[in-house]
Amino acid sequence: MRTGSRSGLPVIVAVHSTALGQAVGGCRLWHYSDWRDGLDDAVRLSAGMTLKCAVGGLGNGGGKTVIAVPDGPRLGAARRAAALRDVADVIESLGGRYATGPDVGTAPADMAVIGEHTRHVFCAPAQRGGSGDSSPHTAAGVIAALRAVCTRMHGSPDLGRRKLAIVGLGNVGTHLARQLSAEGASLVVSDIDPRKQALARELGAGWAKPQGAMTAQVDVLVPAALGGVLTRQIVPRLRCAAIAGPANNQLAEPDVARLLHQRGIVWIPDYVASAGGVIYALAVELRKQDPQAASARVQGIADTVGLLLHTADRTGSDPATAALDLAQRRLGAATRRARHRSEP
Ligand code: PHE
Repeated sequence: MRTGSRSGLPVIVAVHSTALGQAVGGCRLWHYSDWRDGLDDAVRLSAGMTLKCAVGGLGNGGGKTVIAVPDGPRLGAARRAAALRDVADVIESLGGRYATGPDVGTAPADMAVIGEHTRHVFCAPAQRGGSGDSSPHTAAGVIAALRAVCTRMHGSPDLGRRKLAIVGLGNVGTHLARQLSAEGASLVVSDIDPRKQALARELGAGWAKPQGAMTAQVDVLVPAALGGVLTRQIVPRLRCAAIAGPANNQLAEPDVARLLHQRGIVWIPDYVASAGGVIYALAVELRKQDPQAASARVQGIADTVGLLLHTADRTGSDPATAALDLAQRRLGAATRRARHRSEP
């Protein structure tokens, strides 16, 4: 944690794990009434990135950056650029143990600013040598996850016959709404910003307040806003058969996964369904794969979800337990390999 020398803002970088390799995770620029909430966010989100990379089959660990902006007006352009330079300084000081990317509140143009001062950054615009906006790829990965869930529940990956609720119409949520609508799905959409209702009108989708969309009667609920939406209190009120979406850290408490399972609701962990962006960016920028090969890896999320559902059935558990097991096996094996190498 540093107080940015240029911006004066708290810059928090959480490196949760490097067991599988360099830690990666986006840079969140968000308002917090207390910077300690930003610290909690960074730590929790970085742990999610460790799981995301492990289950996604990436040779990377998890991290996260939070620029904790106090409540009040949005940052002006100069202070924002200063904060991004401050982030670059902290990342540079970590010597390659962590690389960042976009997240809530930041975009490829911001990655270009960071990239002027450190090479440990993903998703700068193409003309700056990066893989650009990751949100279409995150959305593609969510769609792959949704197809796998629907194949399991209805015997068909066709989303056109399904009813879905999308809670949050940010970058990823908007891509999802457009694509699902194009496939003929019946949609209820929602956002805290009432202006987003224009998108519902354009797509002919239903509009609801966030709580209404969360508890709508649908095949699949798609959380696509900030985390913590799956609380103990909301579980009894849910009327969906399954939940899969891109919002990070959806569970307000870890135990909610068990409550969902008890209610017979299939929850695909956020770190599984939301991995498309990071899988794509790393395939292109680290492994130098072409866009087709990178997109094919994103589609692999469908196989991962299929495997988790199958494992859950076979062992009488749920996809969340199966995903944690898979992550822990991969992380454990990497830790043992590292220990072995360092022994004399
Ligand atoms: N915001 C992305 C996520 O949560 C982070 C990311 C995307 C990091 C692309 C690197 C590259 O997964």
